[in-house]
This record gives sequence, structure tokens and C-alpha cells, in this order.
Amino acid sequence: MKLFIDSADLHEIETLAAWGVLKGVTTNPSLLNQVEGDEISIYRRICELVDGPISAEVVAQDRHEMVSEGRRLAAIHPNIVVKIPTSAEGLRATSTLASDGISVNMTLCFTAPQALLAASAGARYVSPFVGRYDDIGNNGVDALREIVDALLGFDSEVEVLAASIRNPIHVIEAAKMGADIATIPPKVFYQMLEHPLTSAGLEKFNADAAARRTRQAG
Ligand code: E4P
Repeated sequence: MKLFIDSADLHEIETLAAWGVLKGVTTNPSLLNQVEGDEISIYRRICELVDGPISAEVVAQDRHEMVSEGRRLAAIHPNIVVKIPTSAEGLRATSTLASDGISVNMTLCFTAPQALLAASAGARYVSPFVGRYDDIGNNGVDALREIVDALLGFDSEVEVLAASIRNPIHVIEAAKMGADIATIPPKVFYQMLEHPLTSAGLEKFNADAAARRTRQAG
């Protein structure tokens, strides 16, 4: 399973990209709203930082405007993937953009029927939102599994991009069930890395290495 970062924060993206673990980036209007600067420049810089699919979301509501906005976004860089919300207008826009050869990430997907429609319209990525499903008292991991299973036999290169990831357990569940990608907020990357036994073990190794150096020197 590939790991993407879910962020528009250039500093966080640069830091996590330096770990060598990022295969792509997803953004959305709320994430962009948390940072300053011109959107086009932000997308360009993200494309410089990470060599992989970079999702940029349309804010238009109507299919014609979604298509125009999607074409403008796709023209920024060959790695831009146009993110389109799951809706009738979104499906129509997806179908048009896909036939232009533009990759679409269909977002705000919660159910297997929605995912099947997205894939059928030509979406290259389908983004089930795990955490937001949990938030309303459902089981987001179960919903994700149903989507992964439903798209298994689907005759296209559509990839399931597990989104709205809130903790490392979501990431591991997504990996175990065979999701293609998980897009992970920066905070969760740090939670994935850290373990008290790793920190304690490193502290002991460092202390023992220092003790040996002191002994050898004396
Ligand atoms: C997906 O691409 C979205 O940007 C994102 O995962 C939404 O997550 P949230 O529910 O934490 O806002």
C-alpha cells in the first residue's frame, strides 16, 4: 500500500517527503484554508516536493465549471489529479475529464455503490472517508473493506485511496485489507513512527556506546 500525505502545509510536506516515504499528496479546500498563499503556487511547490499523484480539488458545483476548473488544475503539472466530489454532477464531470485523459480522484465516497459509480465514470482513484464515517457512529474500516472488495473484480485501473485517516490503526487496517493507498495527516505519520520502547532502547544504546568510548579512552 502506498502512503500519501493529506496536507497543504508545505513545511510538513517537505519534512515528511525527506523521510522518503511519500508516494503522493492529497489536498482539499479545508486543508488549503489552513495555509496562506496562492493555490497555484502551492500546488506547483507540492509537485516539486513529491514525485507522485497530487490531488487538487475543484470547488465548482456545476459539471461544466467542474470540467473547466479541472482542466485548469490539470494544466498546472502532469502529476496533478483532479479531485471531484461524489455527486451526479461530479460523475458527469469525471466522465468528461477521464475521456480527456485527465486523472480524477472521486472524493467524499462513503459506500460501495458510490465507489462503483465513481469507477464506472472513469475515476482513477476513489477516496472512501474512514474517520468521518466513524464520526457519525458507523464503522469506517468496515465501509472501506466493502469498497475494496466491491472494486476487486472491477475491470479498470481504479485505486482505492483510504482517506480521512485519524490514527495508525486506520492505516494498518487499510493495508491489511488491500487498499491501494492511504492518505495520512502529518500527525498520524509521527504516531506511526514513535514507540516508547524504541525511544528507551535508543537511549540505552547511546548510553552504552558513550560508556564504552569513555572506558576505551581511559
Ligand atoms: C481526502 O483526500 C481528504 O483530504 C481527507 O482525507 C479528509 O479528511 P478529514 O476527515 O480528516 O478532513
